[in-house]
Formats: sequence, structure tokens, C-alpha cells
Amino acid sequence: MKFFIDTANLDEIKEAASIGILDGVTTNPTLLAKEKGKGDFKTILKKICEVVDGPVSAEVVATDVEGMVKEAEDLSQLHKNIVIKVPITKDGLKVIKILDSKGIRTNCTLVFSPIQALLAAKAGASFVSPFVGRLDDASHVGMDLIEDIVTIFENYDVATEIIVASVRNPLHVVESAIMGADIATIPFKVIEQLIKHPLTDVGIKNFLEDWKKVDK
Ligand code: G3P
Repeated sequence: MKFFIDTANLDEIKEAASIGILDGVTTNPTLLAKEKGKGDFKTILKKICEVVDGPVSAEVVATDVEGMVKEAEDLSQLHKNIVIKVPITKDGLKVIKILDSKGIRTNCTLVFSPIQALLAAKAGASFVSPFVGRLDDASHVGMDLIEDIVTIFENYDVATEIIVASVRNPLHVVESAIMGADIATIPFKVIEQLIKHPLTDVGIKNFLEDWKKVDK
């Protein structure tokens, strides 16, 4: 299973990369807005690509086919690792098909139903991003969506990779792994939560206390 980090913050990306668990990065307009004052978004994206040797998702903001393709071509020039995030709309599917034919990888985003994921895969998306946390927020079990997409993709040997997105807690990651999702894109705070266990902390404390009693 691959771990991506869901942030545009370079410090968080460097820290996650340094612990050896990072396979890629996902950004979106909201995450880039949080980096206001740290340089223009293209410079930030380029710097991210220099830190992580894996897919780095950058989202288009145009909503028409021509506009999305133009932005995608521009963004894909930034670095070979850039993957274009395209929302699941009718025009979005057209764009995914066009970009696939040009050899530009896409991550179909804002996926909230299994059939949207299948449509994106059929159009040629390299990745699909179902949002589990936002479904939980709307009183639907977000992880049910992942289970369905995994089943459908296995049924038809679909090569499109599933990125579990809108991850809010460690359980989302554990369940993603159990279900066989390819990737989870995880906020930095949740990555830190994944490492921690209270019994590990107690264990270290006790060992250090006992070490004081050892003849040296
Ligand atoms: O990158 C898209 C997704 O992970 C957003 O998460 O927490 O804004 O629902 P969230």
C-alpha cells in the first residue's frame, strides 16, 4: 500500500519523506490557499516534486474542457511527477480521455459514488480519489464507498489506482489497508497519529526508568 500526504506544506512533506513512508503528494486549491505568502503555487508544486519522487497531484480550476486541458498541459510541464487532478463531471471525463491520449496522468477527484469511480476509470484516469471523510460528515459511511470501488475494480481488473482521500483519522487508513485500496492520501496530523501508541510511550518510559538501575 502506498502512502501519499495530503498537503501543500513543504515542511510537512519533508518531515514525512524523512521517515521513509512517503510515496506521493496530493494538493488541491484549498491546501494551496493555506500556503499563502510562501510563493506562487507553481513554485510550490515544483519544490514539492523535488522533495518527493512520486506522483504529485495538482488540480485544474477551469470547468470547461478547453480551459481544463490548457491548465493541465501547463501544469504537466512543471515536472514529470505532476498528475492532473480533474473533478468528476461530464467535461471532466472528456478531459481525462484527452489527457490520457496525450500521455498525461490524471487523478479524478471529488468522487462520491462507486459508479463515478468506474466512469473515471473507463475514461482513462490513472487514479480516482473517493472522499471518505466528507461522506462521514454527511452521515454516510465513507469507507463503504472504498469497499465498493475495490470490489468493482477487482471484478473487471481495472488498472486505475484508488486513492482514499479526505482521510480524517487513523481508522480510515487501517480500513483502507484491510480493504486493499492502493493508496491513502493522509494529512500530516494523521500520519503522526499512525505512529503513536500509548503502550509504546509507556514502554519507553519504563525502559528508561529501569535503565537508571542498571550497573554501568
Ligand atoms: O485532497 C482532497 C481531500 O483529501 C480533501 O480532504 O479533509 O478537505 O475533505 P478534506
